Amino acid sequence: MRILGINAIFHDPSAAVVVDGTVVAAAEEERFSRRKHGKRPVPFAAWELPELAARWCLTEASLRPEDLDAVAYSFDPRLARPAGEQGMDDPWDHLRLTYAECAPEFLASALPGLDPAAVRYVPHHVAHAASASLASPFAESSVLVLDGRGEAVSHLAGRSAGGDLEVLASQALPHSLGLLYEDVTDHLGFLRSSDEYKVMAMASYGEPRFLPELREAVCATGDGGFRTDPLDWGSLAKRLGPGEEWTQDHADLAASVQRRLEEVLLELVRWLHQRTGGDVLTLAGGVALNCVANTRIAAEGPFRHVWVQPAAGDSGTSLGGALHLAATEGDRVAPMPGADLGRGWTDDELEAWLQTAKVPYERPADIADAVAACLAENGVVAWFQGRSEFGPRALGHRSLLAHPGYAQNLERMNDVKGREQFRPVAPMVLAERARDIFARGPVPSPYMLFVHDVAAEWRDRIPAVVHVDGTARIQSVDRGDEPLVARMLERFELRTGLPVVVNTSLNTAGRPMVDDPRDALECFGSAPVDALALGPFLVRRDRWP
Ligand SMILES: [Fe+2]
Repeated sequence: MRILGINAIFHDPSAAVVVDGTVVAAAEEERFSRRKHGKRPVPFAAWELPELAARWCLTEASLRPEDLDAVAYSFDPRLARPAGEQGMDDPWDHLRLTYAECAPEFLASALPGLDPAAVRYVPHHVAHAASASLASPFAESSVLVLDGRGEAVSHLAGRSAGGDLEVLASQALPHSLGLLYEDVTDHLGFLRSSDEYKVMAMASYGEPRFLPELREAVCATGDGGFRTDPLDWGSLAKRLGPGEEWTQDHADLAASVQRRLEEVLLELVRWLHQRTGGDVLTLAGGVALNCVANTRIAAEGPFRHVWVQPAAGDSGTSLGGALHLAATEGDRVAPMPGADLGRGWTDDELEAWLQTAKVPYERPADIADAVAACLAENGVVAWFQGRSEFGPRALGHRSLLAHPGYAQNLERMNDVKGREQFRPVAPMVLAERARDIFARGPVPSPYMLFVHDVAAEWRDRIPAVVHVDGTARIQSVDRGDEPLVARMLERFELRTGLPVVVNTSLNTAGRPMVDDPRDALECFGSAPVDALALGPFLVRRDRWP
């Protein structure tokens, strides 16, 4: 089966192609349109399709629209009810249903040659669940999905085995842990459906002193679901406008919501384990991007393995929808090979981009060693290698790298990116060295979806990557999967004695991650970055014309 997956309804539009059960390509629309998150998460935008991502995925798979056996659309309007009936205050929500009902025709006009009858609706949370359970390396898993909302629910707990999904519980709207977190994100002056990770970072600066109020309003109900009653956020901490200074009250509110989320998630996970008795938990949905909560689930929950899909938010539902249809049609579904499912270029193509831009460049004998040398001299390096990655994390293909040994490099990286100073930057480390330095969180951790405690003796040696609470959100690098990144790390350690490099996403504030060589050159040209490693080529700032 040749299947195109489409996520379009809420936010983070994306496309994926699965051929005979194997993921061939997956990409978010923002990487092509250069508009962060692809669109605003409002009902008026629900018709907008990931046209550029879908066309690229088809080209990558050498398919024409008429070659497709099916298109999976990760929202089923037949499951939805009017917003008022669901206790939701959204007078324009009906637009979503109208647009979703028209999606087959919209898709056929965006992809000429496509038969609208090929479009099949996959329930939103089923697509999320498949994006975790079927993409994971485990044939069987207990699966938990938590997000803002789907058609009529905000959660799914189930068991996945042999491509079949058994749904054990789902929580009806308006109760939603994802929307609760979005509400507090908005209250703290950040962008809803976008900046939730900033609340998680801010929580480290606070004490959960509003926990009694949160425990009153938010709780698991003992049947696999939960309740989230409305909270008067303003009575706990004053509402912040965008960019307004936050106070201890705001950090305490963030800490309280974060702590309560963790507590309720642990109860949901324990309930699921009681029902399934399994070893493996797979997680998806936007809430599964909360790496602090994931870490508590892994450390304190009953499952031996916890696996989180790197594009856990809505973008992952294009992949999950396609995998779900593949499995239900009898294809043998293979685990996703990694997150590098996006665009890539040959060395000749990259060199042509440099020649077009007329920038001086060199081709060192070993780009990994040349970059390690630059980092050791405290340079900041834009690192562009291989295919771009699916999901919100930079995992060594589109990264901004720096020396972790200088505390001021945290501020420097936040300045390069033009973002808030309370935001941490993360370390990458060779998988076999990770346990020497980082405790508690799971290893390997290839997708930066867990946090780890930095060993006391290392905190002063790598201060740039140690968060205010003594933790770090690591990416462990497997030398078999990522030989070039692994070599760069080794060469850096040879020079500095530190097996860790600062790794943050290659973009500047408010812009999507760099995807193509032009984005890389534009980012390098506009930000105080010392060198750009574009495939095997090195562009140095000090030789910039
Ligand atoms: Fe979702």
